[in-house]
Amino acid sequence: MDSILVRGGTELAGEIPIAGAKNACLTLMPATLLSDEPLTLTNAPRLSDIRTMTQLLASLGAEVTQLQDGQVLAMSSHDINNLTADYDIVRKMRASILVLGPLLARCGRAVVSLPGGCAIGARPVDLHLKGLEALGATLDLKDGYVHAEAKAGLKGAVFEFPLVSVGATENILMAAVLAKGTTVLKNAAREPEIVDLAQCLRRMGAQIEGEGTSEITIQGVDRLHGATHPVVPDRIELGTYMLAPAIAGGSVECLGGRMELVSSFAEKLAATGVEIEETAKGLKVTRKNGRVRSVDVETAPFPGFPTDLQAQMMALMCTADGVSVLEERIFENRFMHAPELMRMGASIDVSGGTATVTGVEKLKGAPVMATDLRASVSLILAGLAAEGETRVSRVYHLDRGYEHVVRKLSGVGASIERVHGE
Ligand code: EPZ
Repeated sequence: MDSILVRGGTELAGEIPIAGAKNACLTLMPATLLSDEPLTLTNAPRLSDIRTMTQLLASLGAEVTQLQDGQVLAMSSHDINNLTADYDIVRKMRASILVLGPLLARCGRAVVSLPGGCAIGARPVDLHLKGLEALGATLDLKDGYVHAEAKAGLKGAVFEFPLVSVGATENILMAAVLAKGTTVLKNAAREPEIVDLAQCLRRMGAQIEGEGTSEITIQGVDRLHGATHPVVPDRIELGTYMLAPAIAGGSVECLGGRMELVSSFAEKLAATGVEIEETAKGLKVTRKNGRVRSVDVETAPFPGFPTDLQAQMMALMCTADGVSVLEERIFENRFMHAPELMRMGASIDVSGGTATVTGVEKLKGAPVMATDLRASVSLILAGLAAEGETRVSRVYHLDRGYEHVVRKLSGVGASIERVHGE
């Protein structure tokens, strides 16, 4: 397994290009199942999760061709010849559940393995299933698989999500575009990835209104045609690299970054004392003088502070002047980076969904272990500020969601390298 070595203490300067959003691409790719005409995605990120989704779609009979070094995904689902999403693929990536709604809408049947939990929580999919039942699907759970049927096709309905769920909103939105009649989704998630999905489906001929608000209305249509769609920039990668100059000092311009994708996060980051400037090319973050100030953070569905940036923000708070209280309100076990940060000299007290961080002058480099995708990059950020060398092991977690981390950070002056097979 590879490790990443970081030697802290260098101020950063330069530009980092922001890639297309992993979490948008993982819902845009299953959308190809809704049409027998080609769907092409541009600005796609080169990540292992995208390769896993490619494998899953291919197992269903779809064709996915990676062009321009993976930045373009040319997909065609003209010949779907398998309606079963196998456990072997689904267990590797929970987002596989997002083929359920499109398969059901297009083919009237689908068998999808339950994804199971992951390191950050149980992550049930009950809301996905309740939403599909509301559209008239019948669902049976057998041997860990969801057997879904909609013999007479799906029918539009009004469905209120009991709690905000990004994936469930995406799954039901995709199912509803081919349902007969009108569907109204209430308490829908408002993430930019859902807005991106709705814009892509509209390009394919879907009739959708209200995406980005908590109420989305869909008029079902008989079929969707092909389209080409650019994947929205990755707001989590953007936030991660905005934190790099904040923690290491210096100034970094994140190319392609858009303020509306990260406004709550940017507000919090600015409150720590760093400067954030909207430029013609993206967002520029500069930390001129010494330590940043502590701020309190509470994660929430968009437009609140993203849970996917909580671990990275904690790394910054470990070096801040003061005490910061971080409340993780979305997932039940998303502080696994805390013990690893403490190995670097951080002072963190975790109690349930609350982590209290007392900033220290300097972190010390140490061997640490990545436990999940966002925890892995928070350890790299901490390494940028630490004295000496930090070795982050199990970086396969990182490859799921961040392309070319070493190239991007060394491009702005960080002392970072990937060590194979450690
Ligand atoms: C998406 O996961 C993202 N993944 C996650 O990013 C992100 O953390 C999460 O949304 C929240 O923003 C992708 O888009 C592929 P949810 P998702 O359904 O859809 C509970 C990353 O690091 N829930 O909004 O699975 C659930 O347990 C990943 O890129 C149910 O109870 O998240 C959680 O507590 C990590 N029943 C809360 O809702 C359900 O049927 C929010 O989950 C579904 C969810």
